[in-house]
Amino acid sequence: MKERLEQVCQEALARLETADSMEALNEIRVAYLGKKGKLTEILKSMRDVAPEDRPKVGQLVNEARAQLEGRLDGRKRELAAKAREEQLRSETIDVTLPAKRNLVGHRHPNTIALEELERIFIGMGYEVIEGPEVEYDYYNFEALNIPANHPARDEQDTFYINKDIVLRSQTSPVQVRTMEQQKPPIRMIAPGRVFRSDEVDATHSPCFHQVEGLVIDKGITFADLKGTLQDFARELFGPETKVKFRPHHFPFTEPSAEMDVSCFKCGGKGCRMCKGSGWIEILGCGMVHPKVLRMSGIDPDEYTGFAFGIGLERITLLKYEIDDMRLLYENDDRFLRQF
Ligand code: DAH
Repeated sequence: MKERLEQVCQEALARLETADSMEALNEIRVAYLGKKGKLTEILKSMRDVAPEDRPKVGQLVNEARAQLEGRLDGRKRELAAKAREEQLRSETIDVTLPAKRNLVGHRHPNTIALEELERIFIGMGYEVIEGPEVEYDYYNFEALNIPANHPARDEQDTFYINKDIVLRSQTSPVQVRTMEQQKPPIRMIAPGRVFRSDEVDATHSPCFHQVEGLVIDKGITFADLKGTLQDFARELFGPETKVKFRPHHFPFTEPSAEMDVSCFKCGGKGCRMCKGSGWIEILGCGMVHPKVLRMSGIDPDEYTGFAFGIGLERITLLKYEIDDMRLLYENDDRFLRQF
């Protein structure tokens, strides 16, 4: 029996040394130490052993079991260590590889121009206010002295949500909202998206941007308007810039004007940029109509004010000498990267 035990033990130990996976080790454990394993079998055959020899044989079997278990554990640890080593080797990170370049985008030319405008007006003490793009007909037209059937509505045909709600055709409604909510003195600009039912071409888009301006206080005159807008033009286009005001008509201002700046490209001699005239139109403006003040809850006998509306795209196109407005909306990376 002792011989048989030794033989089984040697056999198991030999198999343990060549086993090369956890599964193989487990198979060996079952085959020798399991319920139906070879060692258990020997233990069962104790019946045939003389009673006085049983303790001795029992001890031998236990020793054999302990030896096998110990070696089994040892092999498990060896295999685990080997697997880990292989994993570490295969997963090494080569820190000398060049890193992937991080592509950082940058501001759209319209945004750059807008931030420049905001910087100039904030410097003059203006507040930046935003209003809704989906606007009541009342704020977009009515309260700006453009009643239903007024011909001025033709030029600003827009998209109707229903008969009372439109996509705003101008940023001027933010004037009305501000006058309703704030007491003078008011000094604000309101940049934002506006909409018109225009066909897309090099100078038109159904969606573009304006920057509205509004100043209300006691004793504001047309001289304030001229001085402010002249300073603004010089800041934006350079200190040599001249401005001129041409009489115009807007329903919400009286008197109204359009402001031209001397061409910053040719200095006024006439070139392609200014279409030979030496002047470039950049905004509409005027003294806020007393009716508009009154409708917004401001007493026109106590307060006066001026307003202006700048087409942002126009400034962007001029500033960067871009000759087609569509480029601003196509999001072609090759175009945008130039600014
Ligand atoms: N809202 C006008 C437009 O879209 C631009 C404008 C002109 C705004 C004169 C004003 C202004 O505030 O006083 O054509």
